[in-house]
Amino acid sequence: MNDRFWKIYNAYIERDGCDQLRNWLLSTDLETAPASTKFHEAYSGGLADHSVKVFDELVRLLKSYPEVKVTAETAAVCALLHDVCKLNCYKTEMRNKKDEYGRWVQVPFYTFNEDFAFGGHGSKSVYLIQRFMPLTDEEAVAINCHMGASAQDYSVYDAYRRFPLAFLLHTADMAATIDFELVPEVKK
Ligand SMILES: [Fe+2]
Ligand SMILES: [Fe+2]
Repeated sequence: MNDRFWKIYNAYIERDGCDQLRNWLLSTDLETAPASTKFHEAYSGGLADHSVKVFDELVRLLKSYPEVKVTAETAAVCALLHDVCKLNCYKTEMRNKKDEYGRWVQVPFYTFNEDFAFGGHGSKSVYLIQRFMPLTDEEAVAINCHMGASAQDYSVYDAYRRFPLAFLLHTADMAATIDFELVPEVKK
């Protein structure tokens, strides 16, 4: 598993409840969970890889938007934990597939099967995290809304995947449209 996940977690997340949350994460399939069935990081350990990538992207974006001030702890909480709703949800099944010589072989594939169907993606992550560790309102909203438009329509995600320009234009449009309600005090 991506050892940067725990390096970032241990370096930045230190509020009350972080130890209990760490123990819960260690009791899940975080070590092996993929990030999706077949889209991004669909392999063992993919969810941890994805979470670390989101951290790196978030740090990059925060550097580009210096007026958005968040603590390193908040960035780590949001990035590393935004998809904990996916833990313990991916199961491996076998299916027949033709190999390169045209022979039928059994190959493993992931299915998504929630033991705890909460009924929401980001909101489930918020709920699970707060079983152990409190979130600020800002963190809870960020995690709850992290899917953006693709929460309503997965074809948007596919469009972004195939045409990165579409994603960049969306992000640019959001950035140009949203009038950030900036919190006046400077956070450390
Ligand atoms: Fe994600
Ligand atoms: Fe997600």
